[in-house]
Amino acid sequence: MPVRKAPVASIIEQGGHCVLAPLKLGIAGLGHVGCGLIELIERQARLRLPGEVQVTGVSARSRSRNRPVEIGNYEWFDDAGELAASENIDAFIELMGGSDGPAKIAVEAALEAGKPVVTANKALIAEHGQALADLAERKGVDLLFEAAVAGGVPVVRALRDSLCGVEVSRVSGILNGTCNFLTTEMLASGRSYDEVLAQAQSLGYAEADPTLDVSGMDAAHKVAILSAMAFSADLDFSKVELEGVDGVTLLDLRLADRLGYRIKLIAEGVAANGGVVCRVAPMALEFGHPLAQVNGSLNTVRIEGEPLGAVTLTGPGAGPGPTASAVMGDIAKLFNPGVRSAFGGAKHHLSRKFVGARKSEQAAFFLHVRLSDRSGALAGVSEALAEANVSIDKLLQDSADAENVSPVAIVTHPCARSGIDDAVARLSQLDAVVDATRVIRIEAN
Ligand SMILES: NC(=O)c1ccc[n+]([C@@H]2O[C@H](COP(=O)([O-])OP(=O)(O)OC[C@H]3O[C@@H](n4cnc5c(N)ncnc54)[C@H](OP(=O)(O)O)[C@@H]3O)[C@@H](O)[C@H]2O)c1
Repeated sequence: MPVRKAPVASIIEQGGHCVLAPLKLGIAGLGHVGCGLIELIERQARLRLPGEVQVTGVSARSRSRNRPVEIGNYEWFDDAGELAASENIDAFIELMGGSDGPAKIAVEAALEAGKPVVTANKALIAEHGQALADLAERKGVDLLFEAAVAGGVPVVRALRDSLCGVEVSRVSGILNGTCNFLTTEMLASGRSYDEVLAQAQSLGYAEADPTLDVSGMDAAHKVAILSAMAFSADLDFSKVELEGVDGVTLLDLRLADRLGYRIKLIAEGVAANGGVVCRVAPMALEFGHPLAQVNGSLNTVRIEGEPLGAVTLTGPGAGPGPTASAVMGDIAKLFNPGVRSAFGGAKHHLSRKFVGARKSEQAAFFLHVRLSDRSGALAGVSEALAEANVSIDKLLQDSADAENVSPVAIVTHPCARSGIDDAVARLSQLDAVVDATRVIRIEAN
């Protein structure tokens, strides 16, 4: 029987507090995500990690390549597998990519050496995740892959931990930002698939070779991982059915739109046919469908089941920052959770106080004034606002009711809260104003 190992980070005493010893990381892959992670580690003092994270070793293909981060202080390894098994690391972070080859060899080497692994590699987990999970379990170490599905959207942990009390019936979503950008933008701009794909590439949403995205393969990797978790299913990527957006035309999108549908690349796993059916295909969604409103390069995941009902998570599904934040969340999980504060950061990290909002903070406001229907009343309201330096963006006055009171709704231009407080005080002095003025802040888009 495998024996669960002690937590990776040990407890040490520092300044009268029990704190966790620094967690030493080996990072293989210094591309978009790897450099994003190193940038995040450099400003860890502003994060809410349970303890300190230190990079000890790094590996990539080329040592001399120009990178946006300084790596000179870290031990360099030509071979990622050697880094993975190094005595000097507590955990191995795999950010190279690829389902086979160096990524698989290095992850296996780390697990064999009893090191926990954090990876963003969806292809590796979709195609070899079950075997790797078995190896990790045998060795009593963690294999974590939050960033492998939907980038910065924390869906893997939500499914695995927070929603483990839900009997899931369906997990679905928009899991490829490039495909969603394509279908959204083609319809909005009236441009062809090829034109919008070229734009996606120039904006950095799509790779130079976008095949993995537009063929549906990338979404298939992600939904296979989610389905295996949601249904406790034996992950078999060869059974995932897939069709991409490469065949969708502008005319398809326009015709569906006229009939009240949005066409989007939807990935889903459902409990059906005595097992789990997992597929990716363009689907038509009624305008009112929760996934129909998710536009541009966002990712969204919807989990349905009993007794929960449904929960939908939406956010940035890719990019160095969002993806690195998901990797960091997994790294934080490697610290011993037993000494972690229920609010996240350790007590000696508490550095900020609750304070009141500034009265000078700018916002637009919605005002509802009840006004006696008499001549000059509305002019008095405008004057009171002008005296308080609050300018009106929109104004609507309704007919007077049986008591001869008419409601007036005002939307102001952005102004300070102190200005609104002043305006409301002036309004309260006017004979024509009945009742206190209702003030509601307008949330900026
Ligand atoms: N980019 C995203 O938004 C995103 C989102 C979610 C998940 N992911 C996943 O995160 C992983 C990394 O993605 P990325 O966008 O950062 O990729 P990337 O920019 O292409 O970087 C890949 C890194 O791996 C290194 N590498 C490649 N082959 C190697 C080998 N044989 N030996 C050692 N190092 C090797 C490269 O070295 P050189 O720098 O020397 O070439 C590079 O540093 C992938 O699994 C990807 O699917 C990415």
